[in-house]
Amino acid sequence: MAVLRTLASMLSLFDSEADSRDLEANRRKAVKLTAQFPTLIAAFHRYRKGEEPIAPDLKLSHAENFLYMMHGKKPEAEMAKALDAYLILLADHGLNASTFAARVTVATESDMYSGITSAIGTLKGDLHGSANQRAMEMILEINTPDRAVAYVEDLLAHKKKVMGFGHRIYKKQDPRATAFRAIAERMCEKAGDKHWMEISNRVEKVMWDRKQIPCNVDFFSASVLYLLGFPVDFFTTVFAASRISGWTAHVIEQLSDNRLIRPSAVYTGPKDQHYVPMSRR
Ligand SMILES: CC(C)(COP(=O)(O)OP(=O)(O)OC[C@H]1O[C@@H](n2cnc3c(N)ncnc32)[C@H](O)[C@@H]1OP(=O)(O)O)[C@@H](O)C(=O)NCCC(=O)NCCS
Repeated sequence: MAVLRTLASMLSLFDSEADSRDLEANRRKAVKLTAQFPTLIAAFHRYRKGEEPIAPDLKLSHAENFLYMMHGKKPEAEMAKALDAYLILLADHGLNASTFAARVTVATESDMYSGITSAIGTLKGDLHGSANQRAMEMILEINTPDRAVAYVEDLLAHKKKVMGFGHRIYKKQDPRATAFRAIAERMCEKAGDKHWMEISNRVEKVMWDRKQIPCNVDFFSASVLYLLGFPVDFFTTVFAASRISGWTAHVIEQLSDNRLIRPSAVYTGPKDQHYVPMSRR
């Protein structure tokens, strides 16, 4: 995410329209950024492995190209369909933290690249976009289904968050999680490996039994990204590759009827304090 945040900011240096707030210029930037994100992510993945990046193939779809540039071979139709579903389901979600950050940034009449850079920095947090990475790390650490219940109970006993569970808005069910459960099930069946599903199902059940907290979009989608061959520390960048379409749409909407976003704060600290000179403190 640090690399993606830096590269997204750097892209503005290669765009002669970077500072333009004109609608058409911003539409062009939105399309370019949506195309560039998977290319940047896949290129970095390959550089990190000491391999040359692969140029996108114009005959492939957006999702097919992403997998092709990551893994160096054209993906099976079902794999591309799963990633396509991921890119659609994560594309936008109202005023979530990263989208809000993008809107706050451009509402000062700053540029789209600055807004997107703020959004990536905000998505990076564990309570937002990185929950998919943390959820998969947990599933991998649990390792066998019979360890799942004790593992979760231990986290809860120590008042720790179970990643991929809970949501500010969805208190009973996150509809995207339902879709990803089905996709993950199909992929596990196809791979002939039910291991990850069994662990995930047990984690989900114990979270519901003990806390009545449902899983969110990041829980089962983590297994989907894993089965698609994305390295675990790349999961949040794939989220960003989807959400870039929502972020840029929100930036355009914000600028179409802009007003500075400036919340006020209510002071709740001590009042009527008297000044004490430094020498008497
Ligand atoms: C997303 C999240 C920040 C929403 O928070 P929220 O609606 O403000 O919920 P709260 O933080 O007020 O939590 C309410 C209660 O549920 C508990 N809780 C919420 N999510 C939990 C989780 N994932 N694991 C364990 N307990 C959780 C809280 O500890 C709190 O318990 P308490 O009342 O005993 O203190 C929170 O659920 C979370 O941190 N989830 C894990 C990170 C994650 O998956 N983020 C991706 C979101 S799409």
